[in-house]
Amino acid sequence: MNKPETFYFPQVKDSRGNLSFIEGGHHIPFEIKRIYYIYDVPAGESRGAHAHNFLQQVFVAISGSFFIDLDDGLGTKQTFFLSNPNVGLFVPGGYWRSLYQFSSGSSCMVLASLPYDEGDYIRDYATFLAKKRDA
Ligand code: TYD
Repeated sequence: MNKPETFYFPQVKDSRGNLSFIEGGHHIPFEIKRIYYIYDVPAGESRGAHAHNFLQQVFVAISGSFFIDLDDGLGTKQTFFLSNPNVGLFVPGGYWRSLYQFSSGSSCMVLASLPYDEGDYIRDYATFLAKKRDA
C-alpha cells in the first residue's frame, strides 16, 4: 500500500458477537510502534489539521463514526467516512488530514508505524504545500 485506502480486518463472528484482530506487518503494511485513540470529542470539534513526513497510520472507528479529509498537497482531496470497527483506513506519510463530525460517543483508534515525534509533523498548511510542490 502506498496510497490512502480502506480495507477490512479479519473478523470472527459467532452468536456471542464479533471479534476483529490486527497483526502488525501482516494485516497492515507496517509493524505497530504506537497506538493512540481519540475520544470524547465535543460536538462540532475537529482534530488533525496537520501532515506527517514519514509516519504511516491506520485509522479505525472503534465506535461511532467520523469523517477524514485527506489532501495530498498536489490537488487530490479525498473524504472517507469511517463507521465500521472492522474497517481500517491506511494513510501513508505526506497527507494533510482533518477529522471531523465525530458522532456522540465515538472513538478513533490509530495504529502508527513510529513512536510519537513532533519533528515528523508539518503543522502549517503553506509549508506542507511548498514541501510537496518542491519534492
Ligand atoms: P495531535 O497529533 O496534534 O492531535 P490531533 O491530530 O488528534 O488533533 O496531538 C495532540 C497533542 O497530543 C500534541 O500536544 C501531541 C500529543 N501527542 C502525544 O504526546 N503523543 C501521541 O502519540 C500523539 C498522537 C499526540
